[in-house]
Amino acid sequence: MTVSQHDVVATPARRSEQQLVYGCMGLGGSWDPSPYGAAEVTQAELAVRTALETGITVFDHADIYRSGKSESVFGELLADDPALRDRIHIQTKCGIRLGEDGLAVHYDLSAQNIRRQVQTSLERLRTDRLDTLLLHRPDPLTDPAETAGALLALREEGLVHDVGVSNMSAPQMAALERHLVAPLAVNQLELSLAKRDWLETAVGVNGAQEISSTFVPGTLEHCAKTGAVVQAWSPLARGVYSGSAPSDPSPAERATGALVRRLADELGAAPESVVLGWLMKHPASVDPVIGTTSPARIRACADAAAVSARLTRTDWYALWVTARGLDLP
Ligand SMILES: NC(=O)c1ccc[n+]([C@@H]2O[C@H](COP(=O)([O-])OP(=O)(O)OC[C@H]3O[C@@H](n4cnc5c(N)ncnc54)[C@H](OP(=O)(O)O)[C@@H]3O)[C@@H](O)[C@H]2O)c1
Repeated sequence: MTVSQHDVVATPARRSEQQLVYGCMGLGGSWDPSPYGAAEVTQAELAVRTALETGITVFDHADIYRSGKSESVFGELLADDPALRDRIHIQTKCGIRLGEDGLAVHYDLSAQNIRRQVQTSLERLRTDRLDTLLLHRPDPLTDPAETAGALLALREEGLVHDVGVSNMSAPQMAALERHLVAPLAVNQLELSLAKRDWLETAVGVNGAQEISSTFVPGTLEHCAKTGAVVQAWSPLARGVYSGSAPSDPSPAERATGALVRRLADELGAAPESVVLGWLMKHPASVDPVIGTTSPARIRACADAAAVSARLTRTDWYALWVTARGLDLP
């Protein structure tokens, strides 16, 4: 049986509104392959239960996180509570190879590697299907037709429901989509108040001198056109504006942290929700993938959508301009 246009069009949308995603990269203990213990299982359980309590139902993984231990520890939670599987959406990523073939890092979107990594993720997560599979990074060596063929085969076999990408540009998405029967469902990119090149690109079309950005123009617009969900990784900027400023913050970081705190006080919300609300206000309808393992900080993110609705245009621009430390052109 082949996947028909009808099958793909009939696929239910993976979300109806903007939402937070829980990023599981912090679960599982150390990054080396040493085994995890009971403490890591307890930490994961606490984080996942807290995320569920705040209404999060989408969980983001990658086969490489903590040498596979993020997926394994999550799999233990699913094995303990099988009913959980149908209440959540599991997303994982493939295509990065760490410490293999004498190379510290390389990318591999060949059909053989995608299948191998997906099978490993399914085993670790102790599930029979992935709700979404993302290609973690572009692999310049593999023909997009081969990669797309591998994704279609996994869909056809019911092992993967939706397919998407991470860290890819609009032309890279289009090259894959040419060989798929439906647009990619997701693009996960680093977007935050600290990583602003996606905005700099948007206002630097005429090449204003003070604007330099490597973000490929048109990528968010491509997602809007095809309906791909834009997910933001490291959306809290690892806490730099909400409590974990570096020991020697730049004037812009210090000023932005102060503005975030002031807005949080005015809105009666946590600083984390202001940082995320700023991101969610952009019309790209960004879903932040939060990576904190602290239950208190997970809860502090929960008002992000409400804050986004209450931030004014002035607040939004003030945060951007303060974070860039320079007026707009
Ligand atoms: N697609 C990709 O290439 C890619 C790359 C990186 C990440 N991701 C995904 O994105 C998710 C989030 O990424 P992330 O964890 O880098 O980003 P994040 O959500 O911006 O930051 C979370 C990290 O910052 C720390 N942090 C945040 N606020 C803090 C505060 N106020 N005080 C002290 N520490 C604070 C957290 O520590 P605590 O745990 O102690 O709170 C945690 O280590 C990951 O879990 C993963 O799913 C994807």
